[in-house]
Order: sequence, then C-alpha cells, then structure tokens
Amino acid sequence: MKIIGTGAYLPGKPITNADLARVMDTNDEWIRQRTGITQRHFCDPGEGPADLAVHASQRALDAAGIGAADIDYVLFSTMTPDHIFPGSGPLLTARLGCGTIPALDLRTQCAAFPFSLQVADGLLKSGAARRILIVGAEAHAGLMPWRDWDILRGERDGSPDKGAFAFATAHRGWSILFGDGAGALIVEASADPGPGLVAIDLHTDGRYAEQLYVPAGFKNQPYASPAQLEAGAFYPSMDGREIFKHAVTKLPRSVRAVCAKADVALDDVDWFIAHQANARINDAICDRLKVDGRRVPSNIDRYGNTSGATIPILVDEMRRDGRLRDGQLACFLALGAGLHWGSALVRL
Ligand code: ACO
Repeated sequence: MKIIGTGAYLPGKPITNADLARVMDTNDEWIRQRTGITQRHFCDPGEGPADLAVHASQRALDAAGIGAADIDYVLFSTMTPDHIFPGSGPLLTARLGCGTIPALDLRTQCAAFPFSLQVADGLLKSGAARRILIVGAEAHAGLMPWRDWDILRGERDGSPDKGAFAFATAHRGWSILFGDGAGALIVEASADPGPGLVAIDLHTDGRYAEQLYVPAGFKNQPYASPAQLEAGAFYPSMDGREIFKHAVTKLPRSVRAVCAKADVALDDVDWFIAHQANARINDAICDRLKVDGRRVPSNIDRYGNTSGATIPILVDEMRRDGRLRDGQLACFLALGAGLHWGSALVRL
C-alpha cells in the first residue's frame, strides 16, 4: 500500500475562541489552556461532509495526477453524515463521477483513520481493489448548541437571548472542541515491497459507549420527537475527563504494542501522527512514551477536532510542506467514541 496523493478542505473563515464567547460563557484563555485550540472552521447551512469531501478528494486526485475514473473503491468516515441514511460515500462517488464503484461508509468516529487503513490494506491485499480513496469529513456545525450564527460570526451586534446563551453554555464542555473539515488520501497497491502497513493494533470497547454519544436513535419510536428535542437528545453527551483518561492510557499502550508487533523501537518511528482531539492529550501521550514532541505534529490550534478528518488533514499538510517523505515510518494513533482506538504503523 502506497500513498500517492492527498488533499484537504476547510470550509469558510476561521471562527476564533473570542467569537464563541459571543454566544456562550467561555473565553479564549480557558479554551487555549485546556485544549490548545485557537480557531476552527464551520460549514454553512446546506453544506455537508460530502461537499467538503468532494473538494478534498479532488485535491488528492490532482496531487496523484489521476482522475476519478482511476479509483476503484471509496472508504468514507464521518460521524456527521449528510443524511441519517444513506451514508455520505454514495453522495461523494456520484459527485466525483466514480461510476458504480463500491463506497463503504465507516463509523468509528475519531478513531477512523487506523480503522480505514486496515480495511484498505485488506482490500488491496485481497485484490478486491487496486486504488482506494480514503476520506474523513465532518460537518459538526449542525451539532452546535447555539442558534445565533450571525452573532457568532460578527455579522450582527448584540447577544443571544438569555435562554439561548444558557443552553449553549450548558454544552460548552464539548462544543468548543469541534470544527469542520475534510481530508483525503489515495492509496494504491504497490509492487514495491517497501511501502505499506507494517503492523496494526485496533480495539473497540462498547462498555464505554455512553461516555461520548448522541442519545437519539432508532431505539426510539418515532426516532425523532418533540420530547427528545426538549430533552436535548440530539446533542452529544460527553464525559470529557473519562475520555481524556482513556486516551492518555490506551493510546501509549497501543503504540507500544504495535511497535512490538513490528519489532521496531519507538526511536525508529519518524512520526507519531495522532488524532487531534486536545493538545493536552497528545502532550500527555508524548510524556508517557518519552518521545520528543517534535515527532508528534499538531495542527489542532487552527482546526480544532475535526473527528474523522483530523489525521487525513494533517497528513496532507505534512506531505505538502515536505515533512512526510517516502521511506519514513509513521505511526498513526487515534481514539474515538465507541470506544474505538488503536494505532497503525505505516512505511511511507
Ligand atoms: N469555557 C469555560 N469554562 C468551561 C468550559 C468552557 N468551554 N467548559 C467547561 N468549563 C468549566 C467547567 O464548568 C468547570 O467549572 P467548575 O470547576 O466551576 O465546575 C471547569 O471549567 C472544568 O471543567 P472540566 O470539564 O472538568 O474541564 P477539563 O479540564 O476536564 O477539560 C475537556 C474539559 C477539554 C473537554 C477535556 O476533558 C477533554 O479534552 N477531554 C477529552 C475530550 C475528547 O477528546 N473528546 C473527543 C473524543 S473523540 C470523538 O470520537 C469525537
């Protein structure tokens, strides 16, 4: 498996922490200190993950020097799909003009990238595919707990009414983390034995599903009702401290396990490319692994947590600015709602 092209897309103008403070009780200092985030991007109404993915994928195709007809499989990760069904994969393939190739939607939230790599590797090795478009795209804007986007964006002076301000404040713990964006990679089967997935370590533990979830769903009849709306069942419920603890314990363990499987030392790994959920999580992972922070790249300050898109966006940035080069060994690590987590060691 070899990466032959990458692309990314961020919608609209950046929204700063000070912008968020117009619609709820928060402030730049708290957000920066606790998360490392200074700004994020959000979709406009009517814009969904498939729209973002079209741009990112087109850039990846251009970078690879191929067309949509040269792709034979799509793996689409999102936790904020355009519709409840179908997934966003079919919307993307139709828009790109990929014909009737299979498009598989994956649902492992922020852990998407290592899971996608394992599926891609299997598809390539079995011969089911030769060139795969791996996409992560998210439109969290629809999840956000404020209504006064014009005030947030500075297009109207004033403040939200008291109720709206209090409601958004009640959800400030999670809503300051997220941003929208898409990242795409094209991987192909390579005759060269050098590049490829070297080892992988993936886990799922549904006992913790309710530590980060959106309670609404098809256990309810009807699945959407005014009572659920009233109860806030369509907003995420997150136990931030527990998720934090899972990330800083489970991810270093997984990284050690994947390196042991491949019989490589942590020092042999050029890059630890981690999901961007919170800069403090990644700092703690560096400390626990005793690796230099310069080998753990970050862009969370500019984009926030774009869930399934964080690693593809970061990979695109690193390839374009020359940090990621053929022959290097990269360890991709991520944890997300589910819980799902794991790490993948890839020779580039
Ligand atoms: N602005 C100002 N104050 C705030 C905010 C805010 N946005 N949010 C919370 N506070 C206040 C709280 O009310 C609390 O005040 P109190 O002490 O008076 O009660 C205080 O700050 C501390 O709140 P905590 O929630 O305990 O803060 P913590 O240090 O745990 O940081 C955070 C919260 C940033 C969410 C952290 O727990 C975290 O990053 N957890 C991991 C979350 C994560 O990674 N989620 C994504 C998972 S990936 C996926 O699949 C989507």
